[in-house]
Amino acid sequence: MSSSSSNAKLNAWVKEIAALTEPDSVYWCDGSKNEYDDMVKILVDGGLATPLAKRPHSYLFRSDPSDVARVESRTYIASKSQDDAGPTNNWIDPVKLKEEMKALYKGCMKGRTMYVIPFSMGPVGSPIAKIGVELSDSPYVVINMHIMTRVGSKVLEVLGDGEFVPCLHSIGKPLAAGEKDNGKWPCAPIEKKYIAHFPEERTIWSYGSGYGGNALLGKKCLALRIASTQARDEGWLAEHMLILKLTRESDKKSKYIAAAFPSACGKTNLAMLIPTIPGWHVEVIGDDIAWMRPGKDGKLYAINPEAGFFGVAPGTAEDTNPNAMKSITKNTIFTNVALTEDGDVWWEGIGHDAPGKLIDWKGNPWVQDKGNKAQEPAAHANARFTAPASQCPVIAPEWEKLEGVPIDAILFGGRRPSTIPLVHEAKNWNHGVFMGSIVGSEITAAAVDLKVGDIRRDPFAMLPFCGYHMGDYFKHWIEMGKKIPEASQPKFFFVNWFRKKDGKFAWPGYGENSRVLKWVFEQCEGTGKSVDTPIGLMPDAASFDKPDSVSADVLKDILSVDVEGWKKEIKDIRDNHYPKFGNKMPQELKDELAAIEKRLG
Ligand code: GTP
Ligand code: SPV
Ligand code: MN
Repeated sequence: MSSSSSNAKLNAWVKEIAALTEPDSVYWCDGSKNEYDDMVKILVDGGLATPLAKRPHSYLFRSDPSDVARVESRTYIASKSQDDAGPTNNWIDPVKLKEEMKALYKGCMKGRTMYVIPFSMGPVGSPIAKIGVELSDSPYVVINMHIMTRVGSKVLEVLGDGEFVPCLHSIGKPLAAGEKDNGKWPCAPIEKKYIAHFPEERTIWSYGSGYGGNALLGKKCLALRIASTQARDEGWLAEHMLILKLTRESDKKSKYIAAAFPSACGKTNLAMLIPTIPGWHVEVIGDDIAWMRPGKDGKLYAINPEAGFFGVAPGTAEDTNPNAMKSITKNTIFTNVALTEDGDVWWEGIGHDAPGKLIDWKGNPWVQDKGNKAQEPAAHANARFTAPASQCPVIAPEWEKLEGVPIDAILFGGRRPSTIPLVHEAKNWNHGVFMGSIVGSEITAAAVDLKVGDIRRDPFAMLPFCGYHMGDYFKHWIEMGKKIPEASQPKFFFVNWFRKKDGKFAWPGYGENSRVLKWVFEQCEGTGKSVDTPIGLMPDAASFDKPDSVSADVLKDILSVDVEGWKKEIKDIRDNHYPKFGNKMPQELKDELAAIEKRLG
């Protein structure tokens, strides 16, 4: 395609970056199928991609062991003032950070092609969509962006001479003359990786990683960190939330539900679940990110800015998430899963034993030894699939509707082995914001540099993704409530699929979560049965639609208020969590905390 655009700022920026990074050539992406196949050929020839005989048009990649997930310790919000980044983000003065990074970018694309990737977050041309242009030296990034976003010439046409978010990305591994990758995933060591955001300039600079959210800059970097600052300025919300449509078949009534769970805590699974209760149906609008704004009728409307799923592979099986399994039968990129002898993929929790000899995610022979509990897994815990959303059998017809869908309920959740009940409902908007503000979870493998299993607070599941001061973010949520008439406000719920009893999950989860969704639906229409408790409204355990696999005692346990546990929770919030936000901590949320404490007695 052409070697420039009609956007003078874009052309100048491409030139400037090419001069800095010194690629052998510059290629403008058109988003076509041919282009995808050309990239795949480069990757297969370079020994980085393995075609999968069992899945048409699908490929396996193995990344470097240092480059398997997000790196929170190397992620920066470089606002002009440190106070704007707040206590939960890493900050470096933007001028200093640019100097540091420019030194790394100098000549970093030698021996490679620089790809110019124009992409739209949201349907091309939608008034809510945002255009970004990623410059990257990774063909793996190009094909992932093809699936996860809308890439191509049409984006440039819509862009015209308008605004775009410049997203600079390099894997940080220049090639000397004649040098090749030779099948080794190129990246820089952890201490040289940077995932940097300049919120005032709405610019992203990423260096040294080729993996996931570190490198596919439309996702967490643009659609959450940069978009959240823009949303604050413009009066909307950019959130780490799935969007689903729940339909009751008897009267064809639907509710739209958004849910914020931290990374690897069940968004993709909930978004496309198949209800175990008859007469109910779930369709997916989005599985990771929601952009929401008040519509003309006063309701909060949400769009999914993405076009694909970048989903956690381990645990995905025909009986846990059949719709995901059907979404990944073709045209899918797999990263860090295991390879079978007949050219298929395998991972822990795929629902069947490993068939014969595998190649594990590190490229070594691997044979399952079920007697050996200490055996290293064949797939990395954060192994992922990249698949087009359009391939999901339950993608909602309205998933690309330009104005989005009106949200009836917002759920918060996380992995909490104790204290937090299966579900409880907020009494009003500010109580809902309080719920979001106290979200906590066991840490998962979705970040390389954190201790898996430790519990941490992850407000609104946005801790690693909020582009500004989290105290201001809480305030923004409170202010948004004032813009939506009470009758049109979504209801807020807190769910926990991960309560443990005797070391095992007390709740079966997955499709059985539909029982909770049904109660949420009924609460929204005013037909649900609930009891008022000190922490909020809860289903009446006696009338709750219980799965056979859960005993009445266990159900009662997970549907009651653990008063002592909650008192500890309140103390931790008061002593350790809220003080982090200093004088930016909204009084409204401190009042909610005090009110719950009082009700607990
Ligand atoms: P990100 O893509 O990182 O944002 O993760 P996610 O929130 O989309 O989580 P996902 O749905 O991929 O689930 C992560 C892991 O949790 C997988 O291994 C799932 O099998 C598991 N999981 C999801 N839902 C449930 C559930 O209801 N119960 C249990 N026990 N595990 C679940
Ligand atoms: C997450 O960590 O929340 C992900 C994976 O969805 S990544 O895109 O790498 O951020
Ligand atoms: Mn997901």
